[in-house]
Order: sequence, then C-alpha cells, then structure tokens
Amino acid sequence: MVKNKNSNIAALNTFKNKAFITKTPQETRNLAKKFASVLKSGDIVFLNGELGSGKTTFTQGITKFFGNKGFARSSSFMIVNEYQAFDNLKLFHLDLYRLNKLSIFDIGIEEYLYSDNISLIEWPQRLIDAQNENHWNIKIENLTNKRRITIEKKK
Ligand SMILES: Nc1ncnc2c1ncn2[C@@H]1O[C@H](COP(=O)(O)OP(=O)(O)OP(=O)(O)O)[C@@H](O)[C@H]1O
Ligand SMILES: [Mg+2]
Repeated sequence: MVKNKNSNIAALNTFKNKAFITKTPQETRNLAKKFASVLKSGDIVFLNGELGSGKTTFTQGITKFFGNKGFARSSSFMIVNEYQAFDNLKLFHLDLYRLNKLSIFDIGIEEYLYSDNISLIEWPQRLIDAQNENHWNIKIENLTNKRRITIEKKK
C-alpha cells in the first residue's frame, strides 16, 4: 500500500518551484523531511550543488521522513545506498561524483530510476541524459552562513 499515491496537494504547492533559506544542517534536514511528503512511487530527485553544499544532509531529512533511523552518509565506497521508503518501496541514494559523463544505461542505473521506487541522485550532471528526465530538481547554493535551497519540478 503506497501511503501518498495521490500526492498531497497542499505539500506540493508548498514546495513546487519554491526557494528556502536554511541556516544550519538541522534546518536543511527539517526542510527535506517536510519536502519528502510529496514524494511518490517512481519519483527521481536530483540534488545539485557544489561540494559540501548539503546534498547528503538534505538526503538525511528524506530518509528520516521514511522512518530510517540510520543517517544517510556520503557514499564514499558505494554508488548506491538503499533504504526502505514505504512498505513495498525502496529509496535509493546515488552519488555519481566519481563517475565520468555517462548515460543512465551505461552505468546500469535504469533499474533504479525506472522502477516504482524513489531515487535521490547527487551529481546528476554526470548523466548525459539527465536533463530529459522527469524529475524534482533540488538546487543548493552555499551563501555566506546560509544555504539557499530551490525546489523545482521538471516536466
Ligand atoms: N544550512 C546548511 N545546510 C546543510 N549543510 C550545512 C548548512 N550549514 C552548514 N552545513 C555544513 O555543510 C556540510 C554539508 O555536507 P554534505 O555532505 O551534506 O554536502 P554534499 O553536498 O553532500 O557534499 P558532496 O558533494 O561532497 O557529497 C556539512 O558539513 C554541514 O554541517
Ligand atoms: Mg554528498
């Protein structure tokens, strides 16, 4: 049973094409935890932002929403970390930093992306076909003492 199949309209309006300021990692996690309520089966979330901007921190808020106690970590040794989302759905956290430009199919991640699960992708610009995908785009900008986090829905 998918909890929010008809994704929550109020939450959608709160987050779609909006920008937020966070001053601490905890504020970023809290924002991400609230944003996670819009996610549904099959969604792809791109996390854009320079090194250390807060992409993994944002991911931690999302895994927390889905009840995962363990914190998402930077996946230094793995490209994909797997968490439980809804009862029958998984949440995949992919970090493509170490990859050269490749297609989704070259690296065989289509089975994650084109599934009924939810995928969060750090460094999505490593994917040459990324811009064509229907996805949420989270852009994190590192400003003096704060982050500006813009949430857009593409397509
Ligand atoms: N408002 C904020 N939101 C998120 N992180 C913040 C904020 N303020 C400071 N930080 C710090 O910035 C760092 C963000 O690290 P994080 O691993 O989330 O970045 P990342 O974008 O995933 O980096 P990488 O590209 O290396 O994977 C942490 O050290 C965190 O404590
Ligand atoms: Mg990271």
